[in-house]
Amino acid sequence: MQYNFDQLIDRRNTNSGKHDCNMSMFGTEDVLDMWVADMDFPAPTPVVEAIKKRAEHPIYGYSFASDNLYDAIVNRVEKLYGWKIKKEWIVFNAGVVNGLYSAVQAFARTGDELIVQAPVYYPFFSAIRNSGCQIVHNPLKEVNGRYEMDFEGLEKLFEASTTFPIRRPRIKALVLCSPHNPAGRVWTKAELRRLADICLKHDCLIFSDEIHCDLLAAGFEHTPTATLSPEIEQHTITFMSGSKTYNIAGLATSYAIIPNDKLRAQYSTARSGHNSGNLFGYVATEAALTQCDDYLEQLRAYIDGNFKFMSEFIEQRLPSLRMIEREGTYLAWVDLRALGMNPTELQHFIRHKARLALDDGYAFGPGGEGFQRFNLACPRSIVEEALLRLEKAVNEL
Ligand SMILES: Cc1ncc(COP(=O)(O)O)c(C=O)c1O
Repeated sequence: MQYNFDQLIDRRNTNSGKHDCNMSMFGTEDVLDMWVADMDFPAPTPVVEAIKKRAEHPIYGYSFASDNLYDAIVNRVEKLYGWKIKKEWIVFNAGVVNGLYSAVQAFARTGDELIVQAPVYYPFFSAIRNSGCQIVHNPLKEVNGRYEMDFEGLEKLFEASTTFPIRRPRIKALVLCSPHNPAGRVWTKAELRRLADICLKHDCLIFSDEIHCDLLAAGFEHTPTATLSPEIEQHTITFMSGSKTYNIAGLATSYAIIPNDKLRAQYSTARSGHNSGNLFGYVATEAALTQCDDYLEQLRAYIDGNFKFMSEFIEQRLPSLRMIEREGTYLAWVDLRALGMNPTELQHFIRHKARLALDDGYAFGPGGEGFQRFNLACPRSIVEEALLRLEKAVNEL
């Protein structure tokens, strides 16, 4: 079926995390919301229908994922990536962040270290810190407006990570964002392989957050880290979900794929007592994964169009700003360092002069200062309005 992503849908007064918290989050109501990563598009029709059908049954008791949902996941990863997984490798979570917390708590003890590649999705930091562990930074390198991994830096971190006099290696895992939020990279097979080989050499697990795996710019392909070799598969916990792609984040349902029996048992023990998915999340995810290819195809084309629109606008009318090249996600990472503001000044400028609700770059860790993240999963007229506001504010400086 044909979807109309130009349609404006008023989301105010729906308890929307994105649209109903402006005063508490940004200190003003007068902002255009382009921050947290959900979409201002309706979910695909089969998803809405599946939820309605389930809602018609008036009892919403304890629930579990159906065999059809397991099959949908198994079939999808095989169809898209040639990855043959077994049903029993799948563990449901109440969202990817929930799953990451479980992974940190399952495989690291107080004081242990986990590596992140900033600038990166900031809940990675809280999942590590709030579990009593320490963040070790292996920042991405910006090379001609595109981000790359720092492999030499990564090797050095492992060399440094021993505790004298016990010399216990303290780095337990690397939390990978693939595709990368906010840098917009879709990591190549070669990059992932090199990263994974270093991790394997140092017996470091990989928590591979692949929530953005469907949201690819034209011409890019996603490689699940675990598909690179049987050894890497045994060292990797993969997190996926229909939540970004099909706009069902509020249903708090995602899944981890853990091929290694021992790791899966350890993970499952650590998370006992946590919720997994929920009954609406299960039916929605099944419909999303099996009946919505047309939606995904149209969505990708529309998002590509939004990026083209924004990059042309910036090039022609805001030449002091720079958009980082995007290969995946619907998040635009924009360099405003040329405006010469410190993070507090830039935040104030964006909120109160440009009247935009964005994600401040500094929140994504080292290297994020001076950047802002725009969520482009919205009708093009919103992107245009945001750019006009920004242009006016920049011209008034
Ligand atoms: C990389 C990444 N991981 C996880 C999430 C959140 O996932 P969930 O809502 O399933 O916890 C997001 C949301 O923006 C994200 O960008």
